[in-house]
Amino acid sequence: MLAGKRILLIIGGGIAAFKSLDLIRRLRDQGATVTPVLTKAAEEFVTPLSVSALAAEKVYRDLFDLTDEAEMGHIELSRAADLVVVAPATADLMAKMAGGHANDLASTLLMATDKRVLIAPSMNVRMWEHPATQRNLATLTGDGVLVVGPDEGAMACGEFGPGRMAEVPQIIDAVGAALADGPLKGRHVIVTSGPTHEPIDPVRYIANRSSGAQGTALARALAGLGAHVTFVTGPADMPPPAGVKVVRVQTARQMLEAVQGALPADAAVFAAAVADWRVANAADSKMKKTKTGLPVLEFAENPDILATVSQMETGRPGLVVGFAAETDDVIAHATAKRDRKGCDWIVANDVSPETGIMGGSENAVTLISDAGADSWPRMGKDQVANRIAQLIAEALA
Ligand code: C5P
Repeated sequence: MLAGKRILLIIGGGIAAFKSLDLIRRLRDQGATVTPVLTKAAEEFVTPLSVSALAAEKVYRDLFDLTDEAEMGHIELSRAADLVVVAPATADLMAKMAGGHANDLASTLLMATDKRVLIAPSMNVRMWEHPATQRNLATLTGDGVLVVGPDEGAMACGEFGPGRMAEVPQIIDAVGAALADGPLKGRHVIVTSGPTHEPIDPVRYIANRSSGAQGTALARALAGLGAHVTFVTGPADMPPPAGVKVVRVQTARQMLEAVQGALPADAAVFAAAVADWRVANAADSKMKKTKTGLPVLEFAENPDILATVSQMETGRPGLVVGFAAETDDVIAHATAKRDRKGCDWIVANDVSPETGIMGGSENAVTLISDAGADSWPRMGKDQVANRIAQLIAEALA
């Protein structure tokens, strides 16, 4: 899968550095060449000798190593790779990247590279959740840096939460997606996913049962075919896929703004379960129980993101795909929805409770396009996603 690919692997100084030894082996198993770079702190966790032995390559450690500069300067080192991977990406490395520092070999390579950069963050949960790290993460994703993980779980320091470095197979998948030379290479696809949360007051909201499973699978499948994916997601149950640009939103209006901000795109797939209404009289402070009566919520209609984008007069994506979750007369309702909204394709599915589709791992869909209605057999959401992604690739070819 990675045959002939050259990976520049920057190993940061964190306890997860031991996983990077396995990462080197697995990348090489897949046919990649790995050029390892160790930060000073990383040398406290893994030795240059073991890294070099596993990579069967020289380990680069020092910016001012004249031998290295004579052999291969830092600019060339950073550009000879097909992809730069930072694993583990510590809080400090992320801060350096976000701030544009270039004061050691790793940070200088990251500033000098013209290749995509994939980071696998790893740190204590409090460090991960610290506003500074979250700010840096937002800056980095905005700069186009790809992120895999972190996972949630028990940490070496005895705490529990998000911050564990993604497991090696997950990182390998993300590397594959980042390097994918698929039919969608060079194409930009926007995917919306998950539910939206519409506030009632600062602590309460209205939501729906969307898990984000189908949207996540679609984004993964599209990235797997080489697309540059902007994944605009409401608060979903599952982590976003690796190798996509993630934009997190809460409300329908924020989702529309994020989609508009991500344009232009070659295709847009609207898999989010957007709330049709928001609370028009949402309170600015927490509503209190009173003896004078129950609150009365008033609703206002949310913008229809799919319809808005489908009906753009200039800059409309070449292919706009909507979803239609119906409980009866699926094909007739979905066909009418396609006409009303103006999208090119509608992926219709029956979400009656007895189907078990909503929140489940399978889906039975009918694709409605100019060519008519094509009903697919029931299959996994991943398979549905792969098939849709394949059709999108053919439509854009
Ligand atoms: O009208 P309905 O909600 O059934 O349409 C479903 C399709 O429209 C989905 O593709 C959904 O993502 C999209 N949609 C939207 N904005 C809304 C409502 C639905 O993009 N406000």
